[in-house]
Amino acid sequence: MPKPRFHVLICVNQRPEGHPKGSCAQKNSLAVWQKFGDALATRNMYGQVLVSGVRSCLGPCQLGPIVVVYPEGVWYGGVKPEDVEEIFESHFVNGKPVQRLVLPDEMLG
Ligand code: FES
Repeated sequence: MPKPRFHVLICVNQRPEGHPKGSCAQKNSLAVWQKFGDALATRNMYGQVLVSGVRSCLGPCQLGPIVVVYPEGVWYGGVKPEDVEEIFESHFVNGKPVQRLVLPDEMLG
């Protein structure tokens, strides 16, 4: 397998209802993950983009759904399924992260 240009980690951690931290899965991250998979297939960007759903919490749950893109280490927050096409086009095709969704470093601790 060739080394992909981008690796996308999508938090799909699920906590029980009523947990004080909530979780990305409760904020529809499974649909975000699905949408990344759909876009990957539609655009046939296999080998360029690797998409991984992560069942472990990535940290800033209150800002979720969280999506992290490497190699840049760009952290996206509040990602909705309808944002995914824009992330593909702007970030993966044109090399420009979608700034309105990027979490500033100071929000990450
Ligand atoms: S549950 Fe997704 S970052 Fe914590």
